[in-house]
Amino acid sequence: MSHSIHILSHQLISQIAAGEVVERPASVAKELIENSLDAQCTRIEIEVEQGGIKRLRVRDDGCGIPAAQLGLALTRHATSKVSEAADLEAITTFGFRGEALPSIAAVSRLTLISRPATENAAWSVTVGADGRIEAPRPAAHPVGTSVDLYDIFYNMPARRKFLRSVNTEFAHLEQVVRRVALARPDIALQLRHQGRLVLDVAASADDDAGVASRLNQLLGQTFLRNRCVWTRPPAGCDCMAG
Ligand SMILES: Nc1ncnc2c1ncn2[C@@H]1O[C@H](COP(=O)(O)OP(=O)(O)O)[C@@H](O)[C@H]1O
Ligand SMILES: [Mg+2]
Repeated sequence: MSHSIHILSHQLISQIAAGEVVERPASVAKELIENSLDAQCTRIEIEVEQGGIKRLRVRDDGCGIPAAQLGLALTRHATSKVSEAADLEAITTFGFRGEALPSIAAVSRLTLISRPATENAAWSVTVGADGRIEAPRPAAHPVGTSVDLYDIFYNMPARRKFLRSVNTEFAHLEQVVRRVALARPDIALQLRHQGRLVLDVAASADDDAGVASRLNQLLGQTFLRNRCVWTRPPAGCDCMAG
């Protein structure tokens, strides 16, 4: 152990902080999906390779990030969700600490691509291996945001060692997506693993009928029928019919 006290580099601070946010690909997916929901999206597409260990891309059709703020979005303690102490008393978003994107970028190769509805072109920024955020470049992307990351924990072999098999990591990630799908029937969700479509649910209304339709898509009629034995059947549910 060195006995001289010194201030850690920004990159090392980020890698240490990443430990709190990034445990495995599923926790990255959760943070990115929450960002998409906070951006008022109506659709989220998630593409995964090797359980998210090799690649994870989350694309939404939300409000987007202006080119001039892409670098800020990847900077620690930078957020659009709170400005003053009073805001902390009335949080309505999933995130507000401005930690997720910089933490994820500190332990993967990350590119952020975005186009707000008010702009007619998309821009992307990539975080270099040294942790520096490169200058924005023009990109092709519809209105919304994609976070595209490769090689999770490529620079932290000790953390990488704790990742489980591709199937186990993907099972965790799929569970995160399914939970969001259950909680938010108003959002269309698509999940692909190794190019194969694993989950594809259209947006339904955010009412009883929408919940019933989403439950049916995710869990099937049998679940819906049994569930309705115990609870009030949602309007539009045909559980009593057959
Ligand atoms: N999918 C997205 N769409 C639009 N803006 C986003 C998206 N993801 C991140 N951002 C912007 O980047 C900022 C930083 O994101 P993050 O590091 O997750 O911190 P937090 O969510 O706590 O604010 C957010 O406050 C938001 O302004
Ligand atoms: Mg966030």
